[in-house]
Amino acid sequence: MPTVAVIVGSLSAASINRKYAKALAKLGAPLLDFDFIDLSALPHYNNDLWPNPPQAVLDLKRRVEAADGVLIVTPEYNRSFTGVIKSALEWGSRPWGKSSWGGKPVAITGTSVGAVGTAAAQTQLRTILPHLDMLVMGQPEIFLRTTPGLFDENDDVTNEETRTLLLGFMQRFATFVERHGTPNVQIAA
Ligand code: FNR
Repeated sequence: MPTVAVIVGSLSAASINRKYAKALAKLGAPLLDFDFIDLSALPHYNNDLWPNPPQAVLDLKRRVEAADGVLIVTPEYNRSFTGVIKSALEWGSRPWGKSSWGGKPVAITGTSVGAVGTAAAQTQLRTILPHLDMLVMGQPEIFLRTTPGLFDENDDVTNEETRTLLLGFMQRFATFVERHGTPNVQIAA
């Protein structure tokens, strides 16, 4: 079964985006394996650290390279995706010529408490990922507004209409990964 590296752009213990990502993984579990990458130990990007890279950087790169695809679940902070994600993208893109992202199929989604449901954050990510030579899934787009109780304690979706929407998203993504997945391929960004 193809493996998907999951990048959640929130470090909060109560993150609604991590909850959302877990619910997506549960819906996609018959078709994909999921590797949730913990970004909490990842420092801000600093070029000077390459002579002795932090373990979190090496882990990120190794696990992305081993994956057939990437799922990014981003909060929206001040009408953008989060700095946690930006730093992960920076680290994964270097050293020059050894990007971990190149050629990877990627799906973007996210949830917020606001009515725009991370639309601004996702749109910005869409403009950046092709620069990293990632293949961005175009449709479906899901801009999800989280309401209290939408996900239960078992990471199940309580609203049937939303569940169907999210299931369709994961099924399309599984097909997208199957078609374009490139594990362990190094393509310079
Ligand atoms: C937010 N939030 C927010 N929501 C939104 O829809 N658009 C926005 O621009 C912002 N901006 C913003 C900035 C900062 C610094 C914070 C902390 C929050 C609210 C956000 O949607 C809410 O806090 C979510 O719970 C964040 O996702 P996680 O961290 O719970 O996954």
